[in-house]
Amino acid sequence: MKSSSAIVFGGASGLGEATAREFVAAAYRVTVADLNEEKGKALAEEIGADFIQADVTGEDSVKGAIEAAASAEGGLRVCVNCAGVGAAGRIASEKHGAAPLAGYEWAININLMGTINVLRLAAESMIGNQPDDRGERGVCINTASIAAYDGQIGQTAYSASKGGVVGLTLPAARDLSRDAIRVMTIAPGLFDTPLLALLPEEARKALGDNVPYPSRLGRPAEFGQLARHIVDNQMLNGEVIRLDGALRMAPK
Ligand SMILES: NC(=O)c1ccc[n+]([C@@H]2O[C@H](COP(=O)([O-])OP(=O)(O)OC[C@H]3O[C@@H](n4cnc5c(N)ncnc54)[C@H](O)[C@@H]3O)[C@@H](O)[C@H]2O)c1
Repeated sequence: MKSSSAIVFGGASGLGEATAREFVAAAYRVTVADLNEEKGKALAEEIGADFIQADVTGEDSVKGAIEAAASAEGGLRVCVNCAGVGAAGRIASEKHGAAPLAGYEWAININLMGTINVLRLAAESMIGNQPDDRGERGVCINTASIAAYDGQIGQTAYSASKGGVVGLTLPAARDLSRDAIRVMTIAPGLFDTPLLALLPEEARKALGDNVPYPSRLGRPAEFGQLARHIVDNQMLNGEVIRLDGALRMAPK
């Protein structure tokens, strides 16, 4: 699918940035879509991509980004959604009582509803594509987390939001199978993104040491490589791939 159009939501930073770089290197026309205009613009300029400011939770916002990416010849062929936020706090405790609902709504709105919003609008656009030489109209890739399976203490909001992404992967792939559109989800373990870069080197090393093999943090480029492989390998559909070096998170 050389010279095809790909869009990366949350593409200004971390895993999304690495994915944007990977697809530019593979000669895709890439649109970086992110809330963060400053970082997104700078990256797009550096790698030769387009930038569009978009909030994954907004209907018009996502529609506009997808329409811009789909205006390329051949339409939008690849949509990767890496936009997401972390959330922490026990569901209830003696000291603080019940956790505020607002924190749950925030995480679930961005991580789960944002994923649904991007997926439905990308699929709508892809349905209008001519099938490519493999008979395919497009590929959508979501980002969950291993916290969907082994969430730690304080991760109920985050795990619930990512568990929803895991759960929708198969039925979305089934929905879109008659349109020759594939849907996959990547569930990353611990990756060295700006989020973790804020921690001191020692703390980052300690996190990496917990990974059975290789005993280190994942490199964002390794996420981007998997996203590209998913696009290239047509038999991958309706599945969630853990990308975690065999890490299973402990309760804390
Ligand atoms: N880094 C890890 O170890 C790790 C592990 C598991 C899962 N993940 C998931 O991978 C994804 C990317 O994480 P990252 O580490 O690269 O984080 P990051 O903070 O480096 O990048 C996330 C990007 O998403 C953007 N974003 C946030 N809310 C948005 C919104 N509403 N609309 C559009 N863009 C928005 C941010 O501006 C940022 O550029 C997230 O969904 C995260 O939950 C990361």
